[in-house]
Amino acid sequence: MTTVITICDTCKTETWDAEKQEKTDGEQLAALIETAAEGVQGVKTRRHACLMGCAHGCNIAIQAPGKLTYVLGRFTPDAEQAEGIVEYARLHGESAKGQVPFRQWPKAIKGHFVSRIPELPADEG
Ligand code: FES
Repeated sequence: MTTVITICDTCKTETWDAEKQEKTDGEQLAALIETAAEGVQGVKTRRHACLMGCAHGCNIAIQAPGKLTYVLGRFTPDAEQAEGIVEYARLHGESAKGQVPFRQWPKAIKGHFVSRIPELPADEG
């Protein structure tokens, strides 16, 4: 089953400078995640404007049908963080219900969890 990484492409970190930066931090992180996800089985990416967590950007969400959804934030546009996000999404995709054992968490995603949302029951989908 495919896990989708939704990346907020309008996020700006505290250091974002409208005069000096052509792209938002979210756009930069999205590009790094898209590059890291190239050729990774079971992982797709998409961009979306504002996930309503602006105070703790950059934000992403990890989702798949029938599995737990995770929202993560406080990322910066950094290749190592992007690779950790993609690896976590790959493990989410391999898991039965979206729960990845802590010992398998990539270092880059530790401390970035914002919320966990349970799957909808089948009769509410
Ligand atoms: S701009 Fe990214 S969550 Fe609002």
